[in-house]
Amino acid sequence: MTSELMQKELTKAQAILPEPLVRFIDECRVKPHPESYLIAVLHRVQDHFGYLAPEHMDAVSTLMQIPAAKVTGVASFYHFFNFSPRGKHRISICMGTACFVKGAGRVLDRLRELLGVDIGQTTPDKLFSVDIARCVGACALAPVMIVDEKVYAEVKPDQVAKILGEYGFEVKKAPAAAK
Ligand code: FES
Repeated sequence: MTSELMQKELTKAQAILPEPLVRFIDECRVKPHPESYLIAVLHRVQDHFGYLAPEHMDAVSTLMQIPAAKVTGVASFYHFFNFSPRGKHRISICMGTACFVKGAGRVLDRLRELLGVDIGQTTPDKLFSVDIARCVGACALAPVMIVDEKVYAEVKPDQVAKILGEYGFEVKKAPAAAK
């Protein structure tokens, strides 16, 4: 790649990411083993945008001078990275052993049914995203459902609609049957 082309790529990548992040990457790049900062950089990108889009990862690759395939590979390996925009409220159902045994699967089924989305998806109104989590360290409260930072304990499937209601969800009533 000619230096002019390289400069063009760098400028393009710098324009995609916020300036403090570009500075952070610059600092990481001059340290020994800059690739060891890749996960920290990707976290910051996700914190800023809410997810990792292909152009975000390409920009990281260009600025960190790490092959794009490696950036994508690392991002895909870890479950905490998202590749599509997330909803305003992020819901996680813990599927660790204690929660699973106490019925987390049924809570998840009810959530899917109410919101009409699957794990890793966001509702069309962008209000909720649904994910599963591994043990969150609250096994005594199993099964656990987390919305944003709030932990709901011993959740039963029939409580899910009420919990969602706290965040603006409205259960659509079936039309009354004709008499
Ligand atoms: S298994 Fe769910 S909190 Fe531990």
